[in-house]
Amino acid sequence: MIAIGNDHAAVALKRAVCEYLDSKGIEYKDFGCFEGEKCDYPDKALEVCSAVLSGEAEKAILICGTGVGMSMAANKIKGIRAACCSDIFSAKFTRLHNDANVLCFGERVVGAGLATELVDVFINTGFEGGRHQTRVDKISALEK
Ligand code: RB5
Repeated sequence: MIAIGNDHAAVALKRAVCEYLDSKGIEYKDFGCFEGEKCDYPDKALEVCSAVLSGEAEKAILICGTGVGMSMAANKIKGIRAACCSDIFSAKFTRLHNDANVLCFGERVVGAGLATELVDVFINTGFEGGRHQTRVDKISALEK
């Protein structure tokens, strides 16, 4: 299951991503926020990342105005490796090399077409492991 969350700046793009996931038959849980609501991105990042850490979700997508605030907040949470991406190469290699478990992007930065491509490559690319595992372990060591 993919956990997905957004703040009030990204309701429309979140909806487009959910429609894409529906069209692909990919299971997800929409943690909001929804039309007419307001929420602070650090609160939503914590809620959604908690679903990843508990094992409820395999990966997560966080969307705000830029994607930057969500990624900053998510990366404060132990066990989360969030990547703010607005290009396909980064979305692919953050899975291959960093084993990113959260993808962030911004409604004010990317359009729906690019966002769904980012999601697609993020979900469908595996971690390479090997020498990259050593480096990811060093990221984890920074949390101590
Ligand atoms: C909300 O206005 C905006 O600050 C937020 O969505 C995000 O872009 C922060 O990084």
